[in-house]
Amino acid sequence: MNIAVLCSGRGSNFLNLLMDHEKGLITDAEFVVMLTDNKAAGALNVAREFEVPTLVVPRSAYHANREGFERRLLEVLEPYRADLIVLAGFERVLGETFLNAYPQKVINIHPALLPSFPGHRVWQDQLDHGVKLAGATVHFVDVGVDSGPIIIQGVVPVLDADDADTLADRILQVEHWLLPKAVALITAGRVTVSGRKVAIKDIPRKIIEDAAFHTMVWPPLDV
Ligand code: GRF
Repeated sequence: MNIAVLCSGRGSNFLNLLMDHEKGLITDAEFVVMLTDNKAAGALNVAREFEVPTLVVPRSAYHANREGFERRLLEVLEPYRADLIVLAGFERVLGETFLNAYPQKVINIHPALLPSFPGHRVWQDQLDHGVKLAGATVHFVDVGVDSGPIIIQGVVPVLDADDADTLADRILQVEHWLLPKAVALITAGRVTVSGRKVAIKDIPRKIIEDAAFHTMVWPPLDV
């Protein structure tokens, strides 16, 4: 599978994908290109280090012209023949123009337990709401904002002392684990989508049975 990764910032999720790939944990996959809308993105250094080709399409050149931006993305990505597009901290919402070209082939990592807290910079929103459990979600991308079918989620506790930065750091740890796992499941052909439901094939029955009784309660009950 040819994988294209789209990033806007530092690229730590992209780095974790490449490291898991190097360790052989993501099989039948090649990271063929990293595209960014930000010429100062740290993800460009990550790509250089791992010798992944890069594309820069500055969003600023397209102002209010979202369709023009998406058409340009399609044009520059086309030669790479991507089978999967991974949004790893890509800060633009993609619409029909782009998504119709890659039906059910675009996934995104979001730093909250969707469908709660869609949108940008949601760490403070989670704190302000007073949730006790936060987390991250990998999902297929549809035309809504963070609304597509959910592939995998990870949960972290929210501590009383948290601010947006400490919570973002804790969520990022789970993001770094989740995104490579989701990609590995897809490249191994274990993910199927039916409407909103995503099924993962070949999870051993014993694991499912044990997990069914594994509850995370926070704060802990024995305090
Ligand atoms: C991550 O928290 C991601 O969920 C959010 O933006 C951040 C990107 O971090 N959308 P990085 O560029 O992968 O380090």
